[in-house]
Amino acid sequence: MKLEFDLNGRQVALDVPERTTLADCLRHHLMQTGTHVGCEHGVCGACTVIVDGAAVRSCLMLAVQAEGARVTTVEGLSSDEALSPLQASFRKHHALQCGFCTPGMLTTAHALLSEEPEADKARVRKVLSGNVCRCTGYIPIVEAVYAARPAYRKK
Ligand code: FES
Ligand code: FES
Repeated sequence: MKLEFDLNGRQVALDVPERTTLADCLRHHLMQTGTHVGCEHGVCGACTVIVDGAAVRSCLMLAVQAEGARVTTVEGLSSDEALSPLQASFRKHHALQCGFCTPGMLTTAHALLSEEPEADKARVRKVLSGNVCRCTGYIPIVEAVYAARPAYRKK
Protein backbone atom coordinates (compact mmCIF):
# COMPACT_ATOMS: atom_id res chain seq x y z
CA MET A 1 0.00 0.00 0.00
CA LYS A 2 1.15 3.51 -0.71
CA LEU A 3 1.40 5.88 2.20
CA GLU A 4 2.74 9.29 3.05
CA PHE A 5 3.53 10.86 6.37
CA ASP A 6 5.76 13.43 8.00
CA LEU A 7 8.84 11.81 9.47
CA ASN A 8 10.93 14.10 11.67
CA GLY A 9 9.82 17.16 9.71
CA ARG A 10 10.31 15.62 6.27
CA GLN A 11 7.51 14.26 4.10
CA VAL A 12 8.08 10.61 3.13
CA ALA A 13 6.19 8.54 0.55
CA LEU A 14 6.56 4.79 0.24
CA ASP A 15 4.90 1.55 -0.72
CA VAL A 16 4.75 -1.20 1.92
CA PRO A 17 2.94 -4.54 2.34
CA GLU A 18 -0.37 -3.99 4.20
CA ARG A 19 0.72 -5.88 7.32
CA THR A 20 3.98 -3.95 7.84
CA THR A 21 4.20 -2.51 11.33
CA LEU A 22 5.25 1.08 11.78
CA ALA A 23 8.37 -0.20 13.59
CA ASP A 24 9.42 -2.33 10.63
CA CYS A 25 8.53 0.44 8.21
CA LEU A 26 10.77 2.88 10.08
CA ARG A 27 13.65 0.44 10.47
CA HIS A 28 13.61 -1.52 7.23
CA HIS A 29 12.02 0.82 4.70
CA LEU A 30 13.19 4.19 5.99
CA MET A 31 16.43 3.04 7.68
CA GLN A 32 15.59 4.86 10.91
CA THR A 33 17.20 2.23 13.12
CA GLY A 34 17.15 4.38 16.25
CA THR A 35 13.73 2.89 16.92
CA HIS A 36 14.51 -0.41 18.63
CA VAL A 37 12.39 -3.54 18.59
CA GLY A 38 12.44 -5.78 21.65
CA CYS A 39 9.33 -7.75 22.54
CA GLU A 40 7.29 -6.99 19.39
CA HIS A 41 4.06 -7.21 21.38
CA GLY A 42 3.67 -3.93 23.17
CA VAL A 43 5.32 -4.77 26.47
CA CYS A 44 8.87 -3.35 26.55
CA GLY A 45 8.44 0.17 25.12
CA ALA A 46 11.71 0.06 23.16
CA CYS A 47 9.88 0.83 19.91
CA THR A 48 8.06 3.93 21.21
CA VAL A 49 7.75 6.80 18.73
CA ILE A 50 5.63 9.95 18.81
CA VAL A 51 2.63 10.09 16.48
CA ASP A 52 0.78 13.39 16.38
CA GLY A 53 2.11 14.24 19.84
CA ALA A 54 1.31 10.93 21.54
CA ALA A 55 3.83 8.26 22.52
CA VAL A 56 2.85 5.02 20.77
CA ARG A 57 4.26 1.51 20.44
CA SER A 58 5.32 1.31 16.83
CA CYS A 59 5.33 -2.51 16.98
CA LEU A 60 1.58 -2.45 17.62
CA MET A 61 0.69 0.05 14.89
CA LEU A 62 0.48 -0.68 11.22
CA ALA A 63 2.48 1.62 8.99
CA VAL A 64 -0.63 2.42 6.98
CA GLN A 65 -2.23 3.85 10.12
CA ALA A 66 0.40 6.59 10.01
CA GLU A 67 -1.00 7.95 6.75
CA GLY A 68 -1.01 11.74 6.99
CA ALA A 69 0.39 11.74 10.53
CA ARG A 70 3.38 13.52 12.05
CA VAL A 71 5.83 10.88 13.26
CA THR A 72 8.84 11.67 15.43
CA THR A 73 11.52 9.08 16.15
CA VAL A 74 14.58 9.43 18.37
CA GLU A 75 16.45 10.71 15.32
CA GLY A 76 14.06 13.66 15.23
CA LEU A 77 14.66 14.77 18.81
CA SER A 78 18.01 16.44 18.18
CA SER A 79 19.98 18.12 15.46
CA ASP A 80 23.21 16.81 13.95
CA GLU A 81 25.07 19.47 15.88
CA ALA A 82 23.96 18.80 19.42
CA LEU A 83 22.08 16.55 21.77
CA SER A 84 18.68 17.78 22.90
CA PRO A 85 18.48 19.00 26.52
CA LEU A 86 16.72 15.73 27.39
CA GLN A 87 19.45 13.65 25.78
CA ALA A 88 22.14 15.74 27.46
CA SER A 89 20.39 15.15 30.77
CA PHE A 90 20.44 11.38 30.16
CA ARG A 91 24.17 11.60 29.59
CA LYS A 92 24.76 13.79 32.62
CA HIS A 93 22.76 11.51 34.93
CA HIS A 94 24.17 8.24 33.54
CA ALA A 95 20.66 7.22 32.53
CA LEU A 96 21.79 4.65 30.00
CA GLN A 97 24.12 1.70 29.92
CA CYS A 98 23.60 -0.64 26.96
CA GLY A 99 21.25 1.93 25.40
CA PHE A 100 18.70 -0.53 24.04
CA CYS A 101 15.81 1.00 25.92
CA THR A 102 17.02 4.57 25.50
CA PRO A 103 15.20 5.62 22.30
CA GLY A 104 11.90 4.51 23.80
CA MET A 105 12.68 6.22 27.10
CA LEU A 106 13.57 9.45 25.30
CA THR A 107 10.50 9.51 23.05
CA THR A 108 8.19 8.64 25.95
CA ALA A 109 9.74 11.32 28.17
CA HIS A 110 9.73 13.89 25.36
CA ALA A 111 6.02 13.35 24.75
CA LEU A 112 5.35 13.65 28.48
CA LEU A 113 7.35 16.82 29.09
CA SER A 114 6.02 18.47 25.94
CA GLU A 115 2.54 18.19 27.47
CA GLU A 116 3.43 18.32 31.15
CA PRO A 117 6.64 20.26 31.78
CA GLU A 118 5.81 20.37 35.49
CA ALA A 119 5.45 16.60 35.83
CA ASP A 120 6.66 15.53 39.26
CA LYS A 121 8.77 12.43 39.89
CA ALA A 122 5.73 10.28 40.63
CA ARG A 123 4.23 11.25 37.28
CA VAL A 124 7.52 10.61 35.47
CA ARG A 125 7.73 7.18 37.09
CA LYS A 126 4.14 6.36 36.17
CA VAL A 127 4.54 7.36 32.53
CA LEU A 128 7.86 5.54 32.17
CA SER A 129 6.51 2.44 33.91
CA GLY A 130 5.63 0.96 30.53
CA ASN A 131 9.24 1.07 29.39
CA VAL A 132 11.55 -1.75 30.44
CA CYS A 133 15.23 -1.18 31.21
CA ARG A 134 17.39 -4.16 32.14
CA CYS A 135 20.46 -2.11 33.09
CA THR A 136 20.02 1.11 35.01
CA GLY A 137 17.61 0.38 37.84
CA TYR A 138 15.48 3.30 36.57
CA ILE A 139 16.51 5.87 39.19
CA PRO A 140 18.98 7.71 36.90
CA ILE A 141 16.37 7.76 34.13
CA VAL A 142 13.76 9.37 36.38
CA GLU A 143 16.37 11.87 37.61
CA ALA A 144 17.38 12.74 34.02
CA VAL A 145 13.82 13.31 32.88
CA TYR A 146 13.00 15.34 35.98
CA ALA A 147 16.11 17.51 35.51
CA ALA A 148 15.22 18.20 31.85
CA ARG A 149 11.91 19.86 32.73
CA PRO A 150 13.11 23.49 32.45
CA ALA A 151 13.89 22.98 28.75
CA TYR A 152 10.20 22.26 28.11
CA ARG A 153 8.74 25.22 29.93
CA LYS A 154 7.30 27.87 27.64
CA LYS A 155 9.57 30.89 27.47
S1 FES B 1 9.02 -3.84 20.72
FE1 FES B 1 7.22 -2.64 20.83
S2 FES B 1 6.71 -2.63 22.92
FE2 FES B 1 8.41 -3.99 22.80
S1 FES C 1 20.21 0.88 29.33
FE1 FES C 1 20.23 -1.24 28.84
S2 FES C 1 18.14 -1.75 28.75
FE2 FES C 1 18.14 0.29 29.48
